Amino acid sequence: MKYKFKSRTVSSEITPQDIYHDRRRVVKSLMALPAAALLPTSAQAGTALAAAPHPDYSLEKRGYDGLTPKKKALSYNNFYELGTGKDDPEFNKDLYSPEPWTISIEGEVNKPRTFDIDQLRKLATMEERIYRLRCVEAWSMVVPWIGFSLSNLINAVEPTGNAKYINFLTFNPEELFPDDANRAIPWPYSEGLRMDEAMHPLTLLTFGIYGEQLPTQSGAPVRMIIPWKYGFKSGKALTKIIFTERKPHTSWNLLQPSEYGFYANVNPEVPHPRWSQSSEKALTSSLWVERRPTEKFNGFDEVASLYSGMDLNKLF
Ligand code: MTE
Repeated sequence: MKYKFKSRTVSSEITPQDIYHDRRRVVKSLMALPAAALLPTSAQAGTALAAAPHPDYSLEKRGYDGLTPKKKALSYNNFYELGTGKDDPEFNKDLYSPEPWTISIEGEVNKPRTFDIDQLRKLATMEERIYRLRCVEAWSMVVPWIGFSLSNLINAVEPTGNAKYINFLTFNPEELFPDDANRAIPWPYSEGLRMDEAMHPLTLLTFGIYGEQLPTQSGAPVRMIIPWKYGFKSGKALTKIIFTERKPHTSWNLLQPSEYGFYANVNPEVPHPRWSQSSEKALTSSLWVERRPTEKFNGFDEVASLYSGMDLNKLF
């Protein structure tokens, strides 16, 4: 489904009263929500973001064949707030503006804080890391991500002793563009990590891709990348990070618990109920569909110790 927002006329005359009032309520609540800008603009698209390549996450060190072409990686996306088709997120990239933007850090922390996106970008040194993102739909892409370890943010807000999990939330499309919001999954998009997973140095708070700030379809202005987990764990366009004592509810798990577990570690031995996870379609410049074998933990063996003693067939 394509949104029609570009030609949409907003007027009280042609809008049913209840929707009109609802929109006014939404606009009011958005005014109290500095995270969201109402005017659609792609002002930040293409803005350079400097970062030194991390020596451990280069093509050579990871044994990757090559990068996914930028054009492909930025036009084949999952971002259901902007539509459920792979090309919808790029087509609908003006549905929200990533600037200005704030992100609030709440819950079990001694120093709760709301960051302006510029403040957050300056919290630690940006690094470029080439990670393969493996999607649960059995495709993967190799991309230069820019960001820093999430542990920098966690340390800055000082979790309390009760903090066992972290919940990552995206803006709610039903508040931001009520006329165009679909009902594909329970909003807001919610994902979570156990505290030790969130603190792992591989876990990247991500601001850029291919040397530039994240374009909207990739989750501007800030998203997660957890390279040993299926792509759905990496929430885009984050507005809230909540430290919790209990395991948070997560969108895909709520929708279909038998198909999408909380851990979602890449695992060729545990098939999705409707398809195998033993191989994946690599998004490359080739016209041919290239399949490659999927690696456990997406090749990041160093995280195995986080799960020692756990039955990963049951806790998938
Ligand atoms: N984050 C939000 N807010 N909404 C989404 O629909 N899709 C997830 C994840 N993050 C999604 C999201 C899924 S299923 C995948 S595979 C990755 O984003 C895709 O990231 P990419 O489009 O940059 O490849």
